[in-house]
Amino acid sequence: MSELAWWQRGVIYQIYPRSFQDSNGDGIGDLAGMTSRLSYLADLGVDAVWVSPIYPSPMADFGYDVADYCNIDPMFGSLAEFKQFVDRAHELRLKVLLDFVPNHSSDRHPWFVESRSSRDNPKRDWYLWRDPAPGGGPPNNWLSRMGGSAWEWDAHTGQYYYHAFLREQPDLNWRNPHVRRAMDDVLRFWLERGVDGFRVDVLWLLIKDAQFRDNPPNPAYQPGEPDHHRQLQTYTEDQPEVHDIVRSMRATLDEYGERVLIGEIYLPVAQLVRYYGVNGDGADMPFNFQLLNAPWNAGEIARMIRDYDSALPAHAWPNWVLGNHDNRRVASRVGAAQARVAAVLLLTLRGTPTLYYGDEIGMTDGVIPPGEVQDPAELRQPGIGQGRDPERTPMQWDASLPNAGFTTGRSWLPTATHTSVQAQDGDASSMLSLYRRLLTLRRNNAALVQGSIEHVAASGDVLTYERHCRNQRFFIALNMGRADAEVQSPAGTVLLSTVPGRDGQPLVEGANRLAGCEALIASI
Ligand code: GLC
Repeated sequence: MSELAWWQRGVIYQIYPRSFQDSNGDGIGDLAGMTSRLSYLADLGVDAVWVSPIYPSPMADFGYDVADYCNIDPMFGSLAEFKQFVDRAHELRLKVLLDFVPNHSSDRHPWFVESRSSRDNPKRDWYLWRDPAPGGGPPNNWLSRMGGSAWEWDAHTGQYYYHAFLREQPDLNWRNPHVRRAMDDVLRFWLERGVDGFRVDVLWLLIKDAQFRDNPPNPAYQPGEPDHHRQLQTYTEDQPEVHDIVRSMRATLDEYGERVLIGEIYLPVAQLVRYYGVNGDGADMPFNFQLLNAPWNAGEIARMIRDYDSALPAHAWPNWVLGNHDNRRVASRVGAAQARVAAVLLLTLRGTPTLYYGDEIGMTDGVIPPGEVQDPAELRQPGIGQGRDPERTPMQWDASLPNAGFTTGRSWLPTATHTSVQAQDGDASSMLSLYRRLLTLRRNNAALVQGSIEHVAASGDVLTYERHCRNQRFFIALNMGRADAEVQSPAGTVLLSTVPGRDGQPLVEGANRLAGCEALIASI
């Protein structure tokens, strides 16, 4: 497997730092806490951790509003503690990926403070400033992804500035070469500190239409959807010039050896795969989010796997994501039993899997009492189900009350205590044990890592496919329904099944039974 890069062989684990492990009792997770849990991740069997933003921030969007790109927020620790985190991770052979947030800064970032100070400030053009429309009001109809107009009036200088998200998150002007250079320096700052790669926040939004044309209405808009769905994002996302920026980020990373560039991109597959660039000059992995809201049935998933595989450019390495800090947790989307099927799916598909913290113990969406909502997306557009607090609740480490070992203080979001790492640790039938077995099986078998994916098929509720690498052949069968089902399979031996006691049993050539919600991997 040596010809593959580490990020092709490996499995990525996303940590939402506020919620992973608190070390100082303030109820918010921190770097020292994360460092103390790295051995858990190494034992789990993942290869890299991606850490959501830990930079100084007023926390209007919990760190996705960066006030200093080259430091650590005191809430999370210090640069010295960051070094300890990276050193410990590397000792344990874990790679460290940071979240790079280049589309917008905080409105408290010194660049924006300067930019808004006067129209002729040298940093004025670092952000997107426009005059009011001829009759007054915002310069065009662009809408914020957090609700309302994307333009904020600045009375002091008599212009509007653009913010794709909160007004506290002004968008940077990526057409300005100084912005590009400054951001390049940010990448270098962290690369010099041993970071192994980046997940780039909202990569597909970086460049906007140079003429600031109005977005057309979206004929498919349904009431209750987020505000900005009223419009097609024709002039505010996926502009052709964005690929030039991706190329330049790629070139910077390449100076440092094998560092990975991952893009957060919510686009249909045909547009998504363009972010791979041409002959490896783009992102290594434009995140493939299709499973996040896929209709959970065998036919749909089979089609999705085939379409994705055939859309990938020749040099492109696939990837799959099952959960993140912006979407409902998989165990809540598909239920506890199917979350096991989803785990087998994620870890046997062709491509790099990304796990979201807590999914390995089957954490479900937390229940947030109305008065305790924290997420700005929910607070600005209440009741439309955009709230992201439920998938951000603290990691459940042990049986201690009230915070399951996450903090000794008052946790920033309510902690669920129905299960924990400790409760599942020695239990061979637990979700945690399933994840550990899957990760071990994957690591030890080339077919699961670099093998081709073949014969993707759906029959009723059952999804089947094979992974082939030289002489090694695996057959995977997933029952996405609750009832027992029949599966046509080649002859083989079950290596892993979600049904206890089935490991090691033979599969006969032809018809075999699958229990409801059973997923199995067999060597054939
Ligand atoms: C990305 C992040 C999300 C954040 C937004 C604005 O989508 O994943 O959490 O709110 O960007 O930075």
